[in-house]
Amino acid sequence: MEPCVNKLVVIGIGLIGGSLAAALKQVGGCREVIGVARRQETCDDAVRLGVCDRAVLGIDQVAGELGEGDVIFIAVPTLTVAAILAQVAHCVPATVTITDGASVKGSVLAAVQSVYGCLPPQFVAGHPIAGSEKSGVEASDPHLYEDHRVIITPTPDSGQEHICRVTAMWQAVGAEVLTMPVTEHDDVLAATSHLPHVIAYSLVDTLANDAENENIFRYAAGGFRDFTRIASSDPVMWHDIMKANRDAVLGALDLFTDNLSRLREAIASEDSELMMGVFTRAKAARDHFTRMLTKQAYSQSMQQQEITYTVKPGGNVCGELRVPGDKSISHRSIMLGSLAEGVTEVEGFLEGEDALATLQAFRDMGVVIEGPDQGKVRIHGVGLHGLQAPPGPLYVGNSGTSMRLLAGLLAGQAFDSELTGDESLSKRPMNRVANPLRQMGAEIETGDEGRPPVKIKGGAKLKSINYDMPMASAQVKSCVLLAGLYADGTTEVTEPAPTRDHTERMLNGFGYDVKREGAKATLAAGGALSATQIEVPADISSATFFMVAAAIAPGSDVTLTHVGINPTRDGVINILRLMGADITLENQREVGGEPVADIRVKYAPLKGINIPQDQVPLAIDEFPALFVAAACAEGTTVLTGAEELRVKESDRIQSMADGLVELGVKAQATPDGIIIEGGPIGSGTVESHGDHRIAMSFTIAGLRAGGDIVVKNCANVMTSFPTFVELAQKAGIQLSVADA
Ligand code: S3P
Repeated sequence: MEPCVNKLVVIGIGLIGGSLAAALKQVGGCREVIGVARRQETCDDAVRLGVCDRAVLGIDQVAGELGEGDVIFIAVPTLTVAAILAQVAHCVPATVTITDGASVKGSVLAAVQSVYGCLPPQFVAGHPIAGSEKSGVEASDPHLYEDHRVIITPTPDSGQEHICRVTAMWQAVGAEVLTMPVTEHDDVLAATSHLPHVIAYSLVDTLANDAENENIFRYAAGGFRDFTRIASSDPVMWHDIMKANRDAVLGALDLFTDNLSRLREAIASEDSELMMGVFTRAKAARDHFTRMLTKQAYSQSMQQQEITYTVKPGGNVCGELRVPGDKSISHRSIMLGSLAEGVTEVEGFLEGEDALATLQAFRDMGVVIEGPDQGKVRIHGVGLHGLQAPPGPLYVGNSGTSMRLLAGLLAGQAFDSELTGDESLSKRPMNRVANPLRQMGAEIETGDEGRPPVKIKGGAKLKSINYDMPMASAQVKSCVLLAGLYADGTTEVTEPAPTRDHTERMLNGFGYDVKREGAKATLAAGGALSATQIEVPADISSATFFMVAAAIAPGSDVTLTHVGINPTRDGVINILRLMGADITLENQREVGGEPVADIRVKYAPLKGINIPQDQVPLAIDEFPALFVAAACAEGTTVLTGAEELRVKESDRIQSMADGLVELGVKAQATPDGIIIEGGPIGSGTVESHGDHRIAMSFTIAGLRAGGDIVVKNCANVMTSFPTFVELAQKAGIQLSVADA
């Protein structure tokens, strides 16, 4: 590489300084490395180990040869920085860039100010967030900074050319450079680095002073070792850090000791709920952190946006399959379980991104939730008025259901809140919930054109309303009903067409009376929810992909077990039957207030139909897959009255029309639907627009394709159907997955 630094002078050739020296030398990022150390032995070692080209005992010995393009890196313990700076200021010209690696930035800048009488442009404070418990020049590691972060805290006086040089130097050794204000840096580091060191030192010291310490150390295994590794760090360095960042460390330590005392109290009084609260929240946070560290998101494939499915043509689907739990019901189980009094146990919970986002939101509001563990969740309800203010915005990822239902519930809370989401959710309309909530007296702000974020002012006195919904939306209905729990009387919602009624059913299941007459649902405020048991049936929206797969692929015979067939969700069964599909419902029963059946689908030739308008809200999430069925049918299928599809996770009319046309199918998008001519499906590459249901629909199209179908951007399948790939392969679809 072209060197970004002329001469690098490292003052203090220990782990931090030596590693930068060795790394920059190795990548050819500078022309020469000069080490400065207090002891001749260190200088000799540094040269012998190849860390430096030469090494001297004082900066004054080389200052005369330094100028523009050269960098001095001060890598000594924090409290020694001031003394070093005094020497540097004395002999180093103003053209030389000076930076440091101390863990506290406020004290370093104070030292600069006192030595120079100002903050000179040549000084750019920095802090590489890397290290190990080892110290000394022998510990130098040229790879130490690769994929690590370096925080720089330039001041308004720092010169641009010096900031750029320091940034380029760190980037050259593989680090990512971030800029932060000084106080923010010191607060963040106090909590994330300085506090853990205090605790580790203190724990080991406590045990070491114990009379039985030999035994303690003899039997201490992995936990002790993992937890106390950092107590082997350099004592002088950490002594200095504690003094230099005293106030911020004390603040973090006070928070920690409060929490620890509460935990002590809980252990003493056998308060299981408090203990489980601390442990489950900490586990969730630490698991999330581990995934962040390994560059994974919440669930593995979410952040790897480049997941591509390739489906080989042909095959059929056979066997017995159980698809994961219903997404709508899973969301509601967490919400109502949290608002109930007592412990609610859920089985069959969908461990997909969307429902997990709801779960995390309630944890953020102080609810103790155990699990999920193989679909089992235990929610320690806090009652209708027991939620606490979350520490920051509630991020609900891709999930429209989380955002819209939570908006209703949050409108009734005493605290302010903010809901945010991912790129797709940030484009979706929220005025459909904000408007009725405003009519109820809530103070709500949205982003431009009614898009997220949604900011909700706490403490509003909500009025009951009679709301006539302008669109058939279960999310809007549920939002208003949930706000109605907190209103001053009886709230009524009337829908223009039947939409899924899981909220009403589940509220009844929690002992909260919701009256339903025709299109109207009514509830009175002032009641309470009592904890219950919930068994979540398999999601008919996920089962749909295999129902359509079996319906279009000759030789198929598949049974989907334990699927929810709520009459507000069964449009897909009705529509496929109208098209000629061979579907039988076996073993029909009711589970926890929801009808359930095993759905058997055998191949039969399909024909095109005009989809009855009354089926549209009952199959709203199933249309992408139904469009694939239409492409495989004989004749024309026409859908109208489905403009809602344009505001789902993607514009599902356009996404499907474009993909079908790409595959050689005659498909014509209309403002409120689509016209599809059945005919052969070819091969090609289609875009899912990050929409889980589009991705899965084109995957099953492969069963009838003339060649390979490549579906781009499939990571979001994790939002609703984390086991899709596994089940599709098991059922007989020749699907392979690649991530870039
Ligand atoms: C849902 C309702 C539907 C549906 C969504 C889940 C729910 O949305 O599309 O996937 O759980 O209430 P709308 O209510 O906006 O139609």
